[in-house]
Amino acid sequence: MAQAMKKLTTQALKHNYAEAITTGFVSRASSTFWSNVPMGPPDVILGITEAYKRDSDPKKVNLGVGAYRDDQGKPFILPSVQKAEEILFKKGLNHEYAPIGGEAAYTDAVAKLAFGEDSAVIKNKSNCTVQTLSGTGALRLGLEFVTKHYAKNKEIWLSTPTWGNHPQICNTLNLPHKKYRYFDAKTNGFDLKGALEDICKIPEGSIILLHACAHNPTGVDPRPEEWKQLSQVIKEKKLLPFIDMAYQGFATGSVDNDAFAVRQFVNDGHQFILAQSFAKNMGLYGERAGALTLLCGDAESAAKVMSQVKIMIRTMYSNPPLYGARLVTEILTDAQLKQQWLSDVKLMADRIISMRKQLRAGIEGAGNKQPWQHITDQIGMFCFTGLKPDQVERLTKEFHIYLTKDGRISVAGISSKNVDYVAEAIHKVTS
Ligand SMILES: Cc1ncc(COP(=O)(O)O)c(C=O)c1O
Repeated sequence: MAQAMKKLTTQALKHNYAEAITTGFVSRASSTFWSNVPMGPPDVILGITEAYKRDSDPKKVNLGVGAYRDDQGKPFILPSVQKAEEILFKKGLNHEYAPIGGEAAYTDAVAKLAFGEDSAVIKNKSNCTVQTLSGTGALRLGLEFVTKHYAKNKEIWLSTPTWGNHPQICNTLNLPHKKYRYFDAKTNGFDLKGALEDICKIPEGSIILLHACAHNPTGVDPRPEEWKQLSQVIKEKKLLPFIDMAYQGFATGSVDNDAFAVRQFVNDGHQFILAQSFAKNMGLYGERAGALTLLCGDAESAAKVMSQVKIMIRTMYSNPPLYGARLVTEILTDAQLKQQWLSDVKLMADRIISMRKQLRAGIEGAGNKQPWQHITDQIGMFCFTGLKPDQVERLTKEFHIYLTKDGRISVAGISSKNVDYVAEAIHKVTS
């Protein structure tokens, strides 16, 4: 190394700097600042999309992507969002900084959407709600807050399986994470017994991460009665629930039904943390509109928590982006626009439900003898098909259908054009 540097300096100074560049000495020498950086693994989902893009077969289907597509397979701009954009444009707003925790009109509106208009939480100001960089930002900020300020057992329990980014965020924060049973591979449904048994054994005061609805990647949600049982055990064990609500409205088509767990936990007196995202239910993926709420029991604690959360935001990104949050505020605070949005959400949820029905009918109609009821029992954007890795590989190699190795498909990637083809292919690789 020392010799290479010496040669570079001699070449650059004495003879010809351009030659030093073309011979590669400059770039090699300057890259040595980071030569100790190991190559990280590629993102699984993005890798699938890349492979899909490279495939030139006209029949190819991408069931890996976690974003809604319309029946033409195109990204969908919600009519309510389009209207909100027009309203915003006419307002001619400036581009000054937002407050550190986001605009109050936004945080009030999103808290009401989660907890309900008349929630006691909002009336007694016991919530600390801030705008975040979508759902991921809320998870990251909330979990970082926990690592700094949570005084009890700093370990978090995640469902098996869970969204891949959950353990990754915990790893980044050095927050130990463990697993509780959730998905029953025999029934392709919720393992209530296993979950309750495991949760009973979690050390008191630990943190437990729950998906409010449309569980990713399984599409399996506890039923209301099951949520009540989970809530009770979690209360008995004095756990701190961290609820991730990235799909409010996407599961059943109703934002209130999908907030059942959140509101049940409020009624049962939990002080929990909530991450919200408007990526899926408003189609605002790239606008990064989300929220973090810490329920603090009373207004005094909420004010103290808010002061610390603001310090964390200030030192990370100063303040959040305005545009997506303005769209969300416009939609949630204008009665007519909100009504339009509720039908937009229902339209997306209904299309997904209808694709589930058609996919199941297609596989069964082809004479497949395996049980496929879970396709229609599961809910939300994803379906955990139960396909094994070798079957997934065949789907990709022989049929140009792209999905994650765990057999998860994004039902949003299915349309009336490709549903028969996908059903036939699944039938062929499973019989
Ligand atoms: C379970 C879950 N949580 C959180 C998110 C966060 O999404 P975003 O950061 O785009 O709001 C996602 C997105 O796929 C998700 O599936």
